[in-house]
Amino acid sequence: MTSFTLPKWYDLHVHLRQGDGMKAYIRAQLDMGCAGVLAMPNTKPPVGKVLKDDPLDYWCIEGYLDLIRTNGGDAFDDIIVPLYLTRDTTPDMIESGAKSGLLRAAKYYPPHGTTNADHGRPLQDFIDKDVLKAMQNNGIVLCVHGEEHGLSGAEYFDRNKTAEEVFYSQRLPKVRDALPGLKIVAEHITTKTAANFVQQSGDNVAATITPQHLLYTVGHLLQGLRYHLYCLPLLKFEDDRAALREAATATDNKKFFAGTDSAPHTTKCTPCGCAAGCFTGGVAPQLYAQAFEEAGCTLDRKENQNIFKQFLCSNGPDFYGLQTPSDTFILSREPQQIAALKTDDGDVTPLPLGLEQNTIPWSIK
Ligand code: DOR
Ligand code: ZN
Repeated sequence: MTSFTLPKWYDLHVHLRQGDGMKAYIRAQLDMGCAGVLAMPNTKPPVGKVLKDDPLDYWCIEGYLDLIRTNGGDAFDDIIVPLYLTRDTTPDMIESGAKSGLLRAAKYYPPHGTTNADHGRPLQDFIDKDVLKAMQNNGIVLCVHGEEHGLSGAEYFDRNKTAEEVFYSQRLPKVRDALPGLKIVAEHITTKTAANFVQQSGDNVAATITPQHLLYTVGHLLQGLRYHLYCLPLLKFEDDRAALREAATATDNKKFFAGTDSAPHTTKCTPCGCAAGCFTGGVAPQLYAQAFEEAGCTLDRKENQNIFKQFLCSNGPDFYGLQTPSDTFILSREPQQIAALKTDDGDVTPLPLGLEQNTIPWSIK
């Protein structure tokens, strides 16, 4: 049986929410060897300011960090909360936030493009208002939900073109070229186009990849309408998954790293649709290991374990300037039973339980 030891890792894109479920979501992160997290700001209300004494009507990074810590997050080595870029974000907020040490990253949401993205503004607004320039000048990372906003029907998702492909071929290259010093993370990429964009950009551009986008394609979602696989950006096609697998498992991969986008929803189905988000709390390193092996990177070989370690444990902390933790955990190719996560807010179904599979091939020790 293959087992190997890894340093604890950073989940550089996760949703911890607010309210009664938080404790359980944070516990699930710690249980899967997380040394820290980048906790997304699409809470209710969103994290749209940095400091408590700012009179704007949003949550602040300072307050959300406190909330995470008091709900069990004090066990993390480090926590990054990106600022949600809204109509009220100014270059001054970026500059003073950076000086305070609380602001380390900011998140672009395409307006209305995903769960709690209603406060998002078109990317062009942040160029026009010099917000992105202030981020570049103050070393603040731009975390991007890379889908072109305002598209619908065949413009949004079609065989030859998806909103993500439009964004990475037409929108983001202009920002990268205009602000060559801006650090950008293309989050939860799903397409070959996005992977190519990252590969063809400088060292200041990197990407996160989720377990579900390495494991599944849109066919898995559609066959039986497996709504637990419904997340945004949507799962894509086989050649896209192949490009993501190739990027993550490349021997010299320095740019692609773990960010689960684990997004708990206690109610997935609504009368008029489905909440977007796959929950992988507690199981993400195991699912990444499974995906690596499905991609042909078999983890009984030491050199492949090192490639896996780069992806899970090193590339992300290197990009964000975090220390690699000295604590470790063990990943073992031994089946693990999985169950719904009980929270004070209701039950949450992790992948692949939502696909009626209650066992996964890898486990954590
Ligand atoms: O599937 C998603 N769920 N994508 C996002 O961008 C947001 C997330 C959520 O917050 O549930
Ligand atoms: Zn997310």
